[in-house]
Amino acid sequence: MIEFQAKFKEDLKPRPVPGLSDRQIDDHFDVKYKGYVTKFNEIQNKLKEADKQKANPNYSETRELLVERLYCHNSIKLHEAFWQCLSGRSDPPDILKQMISEDFGSYDNWKQEFKACGLSARGWSICGFDLDSGRIFNVLTDNHSIGAWNIIPLMILDMYEHAYYIDYGASVKSYVEEGFLPNMSWNFAAHMLNRYPLAQYRTSLRKAA
Ligand SMILES: [Fe+2]
Repeated sequence: MIEFQAKFKEDLKPRPVPGLSDRQIDDHFDVKYKGYVTKFNEIQNKLKEADKQKANPNYSETRELLVERLYCHNSIKLHEAFWQCLSGRSDPPDILKQMISEDFGSYDNWKQEFKACGLSARGWSICGFDLDSGRIFNVLTDNHSIGAWNIIPLMILDMYEHAYYIDYGASVKSYVEEGFLPNMSWNFAAHMLNRYPLAQYRTSLRKAA
């Protein structure tokens, strides 16, 4: 069984972020993120005891636990990546900038679409590398439970209201323009490019096509 531990604030918390108050970030981290971790572990324990013989797609204890576990599981992964994407402003690695330019025409075109993706989302805007096509996509998802498969995340923007409401109220555009975009850190993407040889993989896919 996978057991999650809440990450240390010092490792993940991007404070200070210009445009996002400590109160906003503390509330997001301490209440929302830690809440997902707590419930994930609670579900893991309940799952061991659930009567698997009664599994049913309309209603069963196993179904309800697995539906909510997916919600918490994805939420934990996305939040941990989201804070790394705000951990000190930096530019994308050259190789990633080149891939973005190839797929979107320019970095500015990508940024424009990523921003529009965020402003159109009720949950998340995720820039990711699609392992099947070797292309970079901006993925909109309205819920932690809904995602695109085989995509390696590179830049992640939390569009749930809890991410900005203390600081920006309903002014979601200001959150994106002042709280997130100017503060993007590409260190997380650089780490993913290091961990998975995506540039080489993309070249091999194109050669095979
Ligand atoms: Fe969030």
